[in-house]
Amino acid sequence: MNLLVKPSAPLRGTLILPGDKSISHRAVIFGCMAHGVTTIENLLEAEDVLRTVKIFKQLGVDIKRVKTKRRVVWKIKGKGLAGFKAPRGVLYCGNSGTTMRLMMGLLSGLPFKSRLTGDDSLNRRPMDRVVRPLMQMGADIRSIRKNRERIIMINGKSLHGMRYRSPVASAQVKSALLLAGLTHQEKISVQEPVLSRDHTERMLAGFGVDVARRGLRVDLGKQRKLRGQRVIVPGDPSSAAFFVVGALINPHATTQLKLRRVGLNPTRIGFLTILEKMGGTIKVQKRRLICGEPVGDLVVKPCRLHPVSVQGKIIPSLIDEIPILTVAMSQAAGTSSFQGVGELRVKETDRIETLQANLPRYGIDMASRQNSFWIKPRQLRGNIGKSFGDHRIAMSLAILGTVAPGSSWVMQTECIKTSFPQFFACLQSIGVKFKLFKRKTL
Ligand code: S3P
Repeated sequence: MNLLVKPSAPLRGTLILPGDKSISHRAVIFGCMAHGVTTIENLLEAEDVLRTVKIFKQLGVDIKRVKTKRRVVWKIKGKGLAGFKAPRGVLYCGNSGTTMRLMMGLLSGLPFKSRLTGDDSLNRRPMDRVVRPLMQMGADIRSIRKNRERIIMINGKSLHGMRYRSPVASAQVKSALLLAGLTHQEKISVQEPVLSRDHTERMLAGFGVDVARRGLRVDLGKQRKLRGQRVIVPGDPSSAAFFVVGALINPHATTQLKLRRVGLNPTRIGFLTILEKMGGTIKVQKRRLICGEPVGDLVVKPCRLHPVSVQGKIIPSLIDEIPILTVAMSQAAGTSSFQGVGELRVKETDRIETLQANLPRYGIDMASRQNSFWIKPRQLRGNIGKSFGDHRIAMSLAILGTVAPGSSWVMQTECIKTSFPQFFACLQSIGVKFKLFKRKTL
């Protein structure tokens, strides 16, 4: 599907965003590992999370989607780790790095064999970062390649303890190791160079696990048995970011968007800090805690934005929002930059490359060197952009199209359903003018 989008009238309205992707994966995983019933409200029903759900069904867990008049609830009847059975076929993770890496951790410590694979993009992404430490814990993991397909073969067995200092700030690495640690009783501690998103630690505590964070280190204590819980998933701040930027850069003074019940975990909202540094004013209302996660409502109006340079410790807290932040930077008078963002090279696409293949076409200069890049707006104009199968690139280009003079196309938008199937419905409800075509029609 290809998107044709034009500069819009004022953007106005209230959005309730779908559930956070990272938290949704964890709610399903922990619910399946727990003893007793777990219910999940506002679970993100996007392709990536549904891959995780399907894998646990293959492992024999009873998971049901229950629709009542008022809401949808996912109900999991957890039987603990002993309730899992050996899966028959290969476990397919699609485009979802979180599914693959977290499952590798858990499956390594369960007493059966399993195989994991993904789509072409996922099969190219680095898994060494989890395989190496898991092998240090005694895991038996091999990766084999058949043409473009990669299959991760896991011969599950009992693992031993480890103190691990991760060279990357990655919540997927940290979580994979903690999941492996939950399958045994030995000492487990994981330290990262900069704090990555901490949903795993927060939610494990909610499920009754003894987990302690000391600075950049997380330790598992003796109590590692999970008890079923009621989980309410906050709105995804990474999805909110597209609309926050869309409203900030909209040229109409009457634009105003309200985004309700957005997750505001400090390890996720670096993008708000950067947008504020650029001169954006984003009001936060009704701050509260839901299931151990901070949430609030965001109110956004257009603002004049200034260039900014982004580097250092803040990077992990905005890593998924870099594509949409470049769209904000394209509206600032001057050169903005990102430094030390090498992790972008191993996301769903090499995002430095896919941004570079798109932004100059819209009259935005971009230069890159190794793990840094610079953005300088020249003369913004609509053009044809391509997602390269990367959901966050597709949505960022769609937002760019709401301000780029003329018409803009975004080719290959199907990938958006991996994280945000309601994206187009949200765009429509706030007044963005667009059409979707099965094939490109210029
Ligand atoms: C995620 C962690 C991040 C993030 C990804 C989701 C998670 O990846 O980019 O979209 O749910 O743990 P890394 O762990 O590779 O940084």
